[in-house]
Amino acid sequence: MTAFGEPQAQVAHLFDQLADGYDRAALRFFPFAADRLAQRLAPRPGEKILDVATGTGAVAVAVGQRLSGNREGGGRIMAVDISERMLDRAYANVRRMALHNVDLHPMDAAALEFRDSYFDALTCSFGLFFLPDMAAALREWRRVLRPGGRLLLTSFGSEAFQPLAGWFCEQLQVCGGPAVNPADFAWQRLATAEVCTALLASAGFEQIECATEQLGYHLQAPQEWWDVVWNTGFRGRLATLDAAALERFQQQHLERVGAAFADGTLWLNVPVLFVSASVPGA
Ligand SMILES: C[S@@+](CC[C@H](N)C(=O)[O-])C[C@H]1O[C@@H](n2cnc3c(N)ncnc32)[C@H](O)[C@@H]1O
Repeated sequence: MTAFGEPQAQVAHLFDQLADGYDRAALRFFPFAADRLAQRLAPRPGEKILDVATGTGAVAVAVGQRLSGNREGGGRIMAVDISERMLDRAYANVRRMALHNVDLHPMDAAALEFRDSYFDALTCSFGLFFLPDMAAALREWRRVLRPGGRLLLTSFGSEAFQPLAGWFCEQLQVCGGPAVNPADFAWQRLATAEVCTALLASAGFEQIECATEQLGYHLQAPQEWWDVVWNTGFRGRLATLDAAALERFQQQHLERVGAAFADGTLWLNVPVLFVSASVPGA
């Protein structure tokens, strides 16, 4: 049972399944991006910050660490997610990092249970594109930010995970799965500066800036790519395959990926879009 309605319940179920593998080394682009986001945010002493769709807490930890490092001290992070299992992992990570300025709550990103103008800043790393109505969610996020409050988001660039994502889609069809192509992945809804800028402007944000950073790295084995597939949203695309088809998919897909390891490594392409904006009226 879950407190959230459809289709959020399906998303929560998928991420509950993914939570245990989310902190695997192959997925280190998440903490890399979180660290860059925290650096760009530059949280100030005493600020109240909301991290939406926190997952296993990568941004909450990165921002919490920066806040706790302020000589003046103070400031808190509220981190919310729709997946209870993700929040369990986030709690463990926050404890492991000895942070005492992070609170975690289950909550739908589209319906925040906070009063108006409460937070100084709101972060969301790789979360907005999962929400059915992104513009409505952004208006809700604006509501809980004070005038002059800052918003910082990330998404993937359109060429993220290529060519591997394309090979994934091709193999999926060969194995009887649904016809998908890389343009269908959720992040493509927010993959360009133009789309992000227009969306944030329509939700009433100003001073919108977008920058792309390459946060990719060389994978050391085909299995590392499988870690990415099996522990991220890619896995959701495999849900319709039965056990035999899934096994065939994994074997044949990794054969192709393995063939590309001619020189012993394979580049994982992770262009990340950092989008910042603020609420009018400081
Ligand atoms: C790709 S993960 C990113 C996690 C984290 N921000 C990071 O960068 O590592 C997306 C997260 O969004 C959460 N999510 C998806 N839809 C949500 C919703 N409607 N409300 C709150 N969280 C949501 C998922 O549960 C998942 O933890």
